[in-house]
Amino acid sequence: MKLLVVGGAGYIGSHVVRCFLDNGHNVTVFDNLSTGCRENLFKEGEFIQGDILDIPLLQEVMAGGFDGLVHLAALKSVEESMSFPEKYSVNNITGTLNLLNAASESGIRHIVFSSSAAIFGNPQYLPIDEDHLKNPPNYYGFTKLEIEHILQWYDRLKKIRFAALRYFNAVGYDPEGRIAGLEKNPANLVPIIMEVATGKRKKLQIFGDDYDTRDGTCIRDYVHVSDLATAHLLAMEYIHKFNTSDCFNLGSEKGTSVLEMVESAREITGKPIPAEIAPRRPGDPGNLVATSAKAYKTLKWKAQYSDLPTLMESSWNAYKKHL
Ligand code: UFG
Repeated sequence: MKLLVVGGAGYIGSHVVRCFLDNGHNVTVFDNLSTGCRENLFKEGEFIQGDILDIPLLQEVMAGGFDGLVHLAALKSVEESMSFPEKYSVNNITGTLNLLNAASESGIRHIVFSSSAAIFGNPQYLPIDEDHLKNPPNYYGFTKLEIEHILQWYDRLKKIRFAALRYFNAVGYDPEGRIAGLEKNPANLVPIIMEVATGKRKKLQIFGDDYDTRDGTCIRDYVHVSDLATAHLLAMEYIHKFNTSDCFNLGSEKGTSVLEMVESAREITGKPIPAEIAPRRPGDPGNLVATSAKAYKTLKWKAQYSDLPTLMESSWNAYKKHL
């Protein structure tokens, strides 16, 4: 397939591109390099530097004709989205509309969209399945949910088939060490732990130890980024083969607390990783764990690398090069 991967120089995007290239597909990366980086590009792929707010450029690029589009270009800081919702409206929602309209005009009919567990909000029950109530607790999650709604309309009106992949907590790095770029100014737990381990940061703040969980810290479903990448390939093949659209929750189905993550990181890195308890972070649900039964059954997806030691070790292998 000839594919356009928008946001393909980012953390998840670069793993997705690697997976498509490994499986013999032809990939063009479109990225504005605001959070993505050149080190994450591969020589086998094409690269176009551009922004999803640039409609004429999108039209020009898509006129080349593609069998499918993977859309991962978005701002993703939960906290920032609450302070600067306008930025998230423009980049995430307007940007996606530009992409969709250009795709529609140029005859692209298959889209895999990077959605998020942030669309669900506080769980009504666990594990969270695809039908769970959608009540995003932050504006970032709202933008992802809005885009899912828009995709449903374009499916109905323009016959654009899509798969919305709701990632839970993406962590880890390519087990073969082929992704070189680290995330810039990360706000997520594992990259922050890794920056403490390499000495770039002094200590980790643990946001709250008074949640109703086994050790009081938040529980999340950490899933390996290479497993997520495989899901993009399977989803793209699935929507082509069955000419259909669908949504999938992607997690490891295992809940791990913040303290358990820190312990595992100490073990694997051999570094002390100083940590202190800090107040809760607003909008953090106590416990988020997915069921990925639908992805297993429908896409024949399987999380291969999402056990805790592999998650931590593959992250550490990427970070320790920067010691
Ligand atoms: N945490 C800390 N200290 C930190 C950073 C995080 O204690 O410095 C805690 C958080 O409170 C949370 C857990 O670690 O309990 C995981 O936090 P992340 O920021 O890594 O991830 P989130 O669960 O908040 O959110 C992530 C992505 C979102 C995505 C969401 C889906 O950032 O984009 O998963 O669940 F939508």
